[in-house]
Amino acid sequence: MKVLVTGASGLLGSEICRRLDADREFLGIKKLLKLRRKPGDHYLAVDLANPADWPQIAEQDWSVVIHTAAIKEPDKCENNQPDAVMLNVAATAFLANEAARRRAYMIYICTDYVFPGINPPYDEDAAPEPLNYYGQTKWQGELAVLAASTSFASLRVPILYGLAAGIEQSGAIIGSLRPLFDRHEQKMDDVIVRYPTWTGNVAAAVELILSNQAAGVFHCTAEERTTKYGLCVALAQLLDLPYDHLQPYTGLGTGAPRPHDAHLSWQRLRLLGFPGCKSFSQQLQLMKPELAAGIRCIKS
Ligand SMILES: NC(=O)c1ccc[n+]([C@@H]2O[C@H](COP(=O)([O-])OP(=O)(O)OC[C@H]3O[C@@H](n4cnc5c(N)ncnc54)[C@H](OP(=O)(O)O)[C@@H]3O)[C@@H](O)[C@H]2O)c1
Repeated sequence: MKVLVTGASGLLGSEICRRLDADREFLGIKKLLKLRRKPGDHYLAVDLANPADWPQIAEQDWSVVIHTAAIKEPDKCENNQPDAVMLNVAATAFLANEAARRRAYMIYICTDYVFPGINPPYDEDAAPEPLNYYGQTKWQGELAVLAASTSFASLRVPILYGLAAGIEQSGAIIGSLRPLFDRHEQKMDDVIVRYPTWTGNVAAAVELILSNQAAGVFHCTAEERTTKYGLCVALAQLLDLPYDHLQPYTGLGTGAPRPHDAHLSWQRLRLLGFPGCKSFSQQLQLMKPELAAGIRCIKS
């Protein structure tokens, strides 16, 4: 069983590839390859947003696809809607139809931003109602996957963090460290509720869904709630950094609208035997040596 992983250089895709490397054959798709491809390499460069590149995917031998590649930044999607549609919807529909045609299995990675965040928690059957273009395109991608085959799965996740692709790739961590290093007075959002979830836990959920070849919509989330400001404070306290220059901000945010609290409930994953995700306080503590090493790299 060869597994195709899109977004293999990304925050989540690199964690999934790291785990698959141990016991399954996989081919990771990246947009760009930094080094020339050699025989036996696990990676292939394909621009999924360019339909002219799609035959390269169709030519490969694979029987499972884990589709993580996406434009995930809400403001980028809002400001560049054609690009967001090409990758988040059109490329997803192509992969789903190709997987169905060859009777392969597919897991699509989706987001809690399909929900408006007004009435949490949201279970797997709650009706999506995205507030921004990113959420709309991810939901359309999910609909295309579920329409292509009733045996495919979609896994919705909230804000992620992890270090498999390097500290710079982990938006939640780097986005909290930068304001801590930059000692200017700054206001940090303290309104939008987030549930930072470790990519290692999501990769384990993907493995569980894959080994059961489970179908339909699944949710995976950690339970500890925080805000952007709360995450900065947690990292500052963990790493012994000053944070008195940061002010909690409770006014309106700028940019694409975000759901206030899109907390996911995850009964279906529990029924598959998933033990749950670590809280970010516990997980950050475990990652402290790796974090410190990553910080030394970005400072040098
Ligand atoms: N990160 C979060 O907080 C979060 C929260 C909820 C849901 N999600 C969902 O989780 C999934 C994974 O997110 P992530 O954080 O791992 O994303 P990421 O770190 O931004 O990685 C995106 C990946 O997509 C690839 N990619 C981008 N454009 C491409 C193109 N045109 N052709 C081929 N590959 C392309 C990138 O390849 P290159 O590096 O080669 O450009 C990269 O490997 C996404 O579907 C996202 O919607 C993420």
